[in-house]
Amino acid sequence: MSSHESSYEPKSATAKWWDERLPLPRLMYDQFVEFPTPRNLNYLWTFGGILTFCLVAQIVTGIVLAMHYVPSGTDAFDSVDRIRRDVNYGWLIQPMHAVGASMFFLAAYIHTFRGLYYGSYRAPREILWILGVFILLAMMATAFMGYSLPWGQMSFWAVTVITNLFSSLDQIIPGFGTSIVEWLWGGYAVSGVTLTRFYSLHYLLPFVIFGLVILHVWALHVCGQNNPTGIEIKTKSDSLPMYPYAVSKDIFGLFVFVIIFAWFLLFLPDYLGHADNFVKADPLVTPPHIVPEWYFLPFYAILRAIPDKLGGVIAMFASIAILAFVPWLDRSPVRSTKYRPIYKWFFWLFVFTCLALGYLGAKPAEGVYVFWARIFTLYYFAHFLIVMPILGSMETPKSLPGSISEAVLGKGSKSTTSSAPAGAPIGAPAAPEDR
Ligand code: HEM
Repeated sequence: MSSHESSYEPKSATAKWWDERLPLPRLMYDQFVEFPTPRNLNYLWTFGGILTFCLVAQIVTGIVLAMHYVPSGTDAFDSVDRIRRDVNYGWLIQPMHAVGASMFFLAAYIHTFRGLYYGSYRAPREILWILGVFILLAMMATAFMGYSLPWGQMSFWAVTVITNLFSSLDQIIPGFGTSIVEWLWGGYAVSGVTLTRFYSLHYLLPFVIFGLVILHVWALHVCGQNNPTGIEIKTKSDSLPMYPYAVSKDIFGLFVFVIIFAWFLLFLPDYLGHADNFVKADPLVTPPHIVPEWYFLPFYAILRAIPDKLGGVIAMFASIAILAFVPWLDRSPVRSTKYRPIYKWFFWLFVFTCLALGYLGAKPAEGVYVFWARIFTLYYFAHFLIVMPILGSMETPKSLPGSISEAVLGKGSKSTTSSAPAGAPIGAPAAPEDR
């Protein structure tokens, strides 16, 4: 992984024996104990750990649910009801998984916007970032298939609407889109056959995500972490060992996150769901409003903003794919938005745009809602294709501090820090970033 020297010393003969054969403890020590982390990381850097927690929690609760869930068109709905009412702790585990999916997306979006704000996608972290985009796509596919499993009205109709999107490919090659849709359905309509294959893939994909996360963290440990200044670690005094400093901060962040998670879970377990999903799937009754889960709403708004079906599908997929090109679209000489007085406003305009698209995605696709969805869709793409490259090369950034230590301790404090032992906690001020 990273090139720094290992100071791991096996403490016993057995540890030495392992170290000479499979140096896993050495790897863990080097990468998660001694690993140098920038000393100025804020709480937004705790979301990677929070996401790891979410992934593990989804896998563990999912495996337990799978022991009781019945993936068939006739029994799926009742089996989820039985899990919630009759299975021991099912009342807790089923909402943990369902609310957990929402919390997972919340954390993933905060983590992604953190990356966008501080320019964490910039060289040399392009692959780390692109792996993140793949993780996001895999999470979306997993969540979409997972949502079909309770086989309620919204499950059934969401599958119908979204799988049908592929039929738009008929506009390019006649018959091609329809064949894809029938292949996805396993027949000529959404049925129990579709449910079974979605279940199989929903069980598989989290492990693919797990593999992607390992690559993601590996890439992170090759380049090292970015930080709020966007300046790389230059001297030893710019960093602190990951344990206990970053780890204790991560644990505190996770603790707060778990409290919010538990609050939803115990007081409002169905708040983020849809009432129609308490009605068993019925192919003969279409719900008046088919809306996806909140975390898909901005993309759903983009889909419906385009008057042409194929165009809408392309725009929706492009809105995620474009993230992968951000490392090359951003032309600014500095990484962090903190030092970009003009771009800062555009960044928040972009955040507002995403929230507005989310709001519009939940509204009927008519009148003024469609008008605004079009305006915000335009800005969504303009942000990446126009603002990022053009403003990046025109804007004059604020002057950067000389180093991370200087940003934390102020100018002239270098002499104090340079003589201090590496990794020692050197009384940083309470709000160092603002000095
Ligand atoms: C299952 C989902 C994910 C997990 C478990 C995960 C895990 C992590 C971890 C543990 C870190 C280091 C701690 C931190 O910086 O917060 C990290 C950093 C990072 N992640 Fe993720 N991540 C996930 C999804 C994503 C996504 C969706 C993106 C963006 C599209 C992304 C982009 C990044 C970037 C750019 C960094 C480096 C940040 C920096 O050092 O400034 N990650 N990730």
